[in-house]
Amino acid sequence: MNMALFDRLPNVEADLLVVFVPSEGDLPESTAWVDENAAGHISQLRETGVFKGGVAQTLLLPSLSQDFAQAVLLVGVGKGDALSDMQSRKVVAAVAAQIKGLPFANVAVANQGLVMKDRSESEIIALVAQWLNEGFYNFIGFKQDDAEKATKVETLLLQGSDESALAIGKATASGSAFARQLGNLPGNVCTPSYLASKAQQLAEDFSIDVELLDETKMDELGMHCMLSVGRGSDQPSYLIVMHYRGGEEGDAPYVLLGKGITFDTGGISLKPGPKMDEMKYDMCGAASVFGTMKAICELKPKMNFTAVIAAAENMPSGHATKPGDIVKTMSGKTVEILNTDAEGRLVLCDALSYIERFEPKSVVDIATLTGACVVALGSVNSGMYANNEALAAELKTAGKVSADKLWQMPLDEEYQQQLDSNFADIANIGGPEAGSVTAACFLSRFTESYPWAHLDIAGTAWSGGANKGASGRPVALLTRYLLSKA
Ligand code: BES
Ligand code: MN
Ligand code: ZN
Repeated sequence: MNMALFDRLPNVEADLLVVFVPSEGDLPESTAWVDENAAGHISQLRETGVFKGGVAQTLLLPSLSQDFAQAVLLVGVGKGDALSDMQSRKVVAAVAAQIKGLPFANVAVANQGLVMKDRSESEIIALVAQWLNEGFYNFIGFKQDDAEKATKVETLLLQGSDESALAIGKATASGSAFARQLGNLPGNVCTPSYLASKAQQLAEDFSIDVELLDETKMDELGMHCMLSVGRGSDQPSYLIVMHYRGGEEGDAPYVLLGKGITFDTGGISLKPGPKMDEMKYDMCGAASVFGTMKAICELKPKMNFTAVIAAAENMPSGHATKPGDIVKTMSGKTVEILNTDAEGRLVLCDALSYIERFEPKSVVDIATLTGACVVALGSVNSGMYANNEALAAELKTAGKVSADKLWQMPLDEEYQQQLDSNFADIANIGGPEAGSVTAACFLSRFTESYPWAHLDIAGTAWSGGANKGASGRPVALLTRYLLSKA
């Protein structure tokens, strides 16, 4: 889908015009222009209470006037006060839901009528572009009516002048769609090798370098903790490394590391049956890193960025790692694996040690790491941990700008004691208390040589219930973070 900008209403050709209507007070400029050219029809609808302008209320008016468009979509924005991010997202989602199935190829959205609290015009353009695109997303490949569901919209025109904001919105949407598609794929399709093939495909589509470390190579490097997770699986594990080189040669990279457990049965510490299918989402950290790589490749900022994916499948079998097994990490520290379902930290710790060779400016790992984080923060905020306050602050800012929220969690040394083991240097679980914190503490033992942050996205990467599916988070946050470093 194409996207472009227009300045004001008469200066645009569209099959469908989307205008915003407050429930009281003056109509915004574009809406007023339509109203004047349609004999006061919008004002009348509002006065008679047919269309009240409540937040995210919509009304499609075909053939308002032959002069400017085949149809006009009215969208309510409430009392006319600036809307919060949550309300604005609802409004934009309602617009996307309405226009997705309509037979109009060219749609113009007069978004100056959508006023968002504490947001600049540029931020609004980026967010509206991203959210509209996200509203058009369909999971494709497995249903017979895929083609019918695809949107007919070919060109989407937004109101504004900041081309670079539009580009950020578009690229973020494209990265987020990629992440959602990978996240939604079932475990029998999206295996570690499949993720490796996606990296190779990115290398063909864009000029990035890809290295695949197979099990033999990881064994040579001493990544026994990573390898212990895939032991029970017939699917080989991979460490996938992608280098985007937009900066000076030799400039240290910013590194993102994604947890890529393509299915998490729990291993010998087998998970209970109900909802186990949801563990196909256990590679959403990896998916968000892939999505961010795609967004960055499209935006081409001047910086070096390395993406690392720790990909494995966690299965029970006669070869599987057992509770009580002791394995040696690449760092030399030994781990007593008390619970094979705490596997995310086991793949990440060796990847974190591997990353030292890049002498990174910063490392952010992204993982659907703990159920405890879902209990603590739900689906609103990702949990963020950091060993460096400057990095933590930068991520908070990126989260605010992209409306992809996170909440900083503690890493006090008192929590570290929960990982003491009688038999090895560290245990892989810390008991029932503070489960998200002790998982982060485990990772912190492997990140002492660089500024590091950890995002626990177990609650934010996908939604359950009727709208079950991957969310694409935190592609927007990560893309903004990286752009702030260019
Ligand atoms: N992938 C899960 C975490 C998870 C749970 C993500 C629910 C999304 C929704 C992770 O590998 C896991 O199983 N964690 C255990 C850790 C425990 C054994 C210490 C958990 O959270 O129960
Ligand atoms: Mn697990
Ligand atoms: Zn897991």
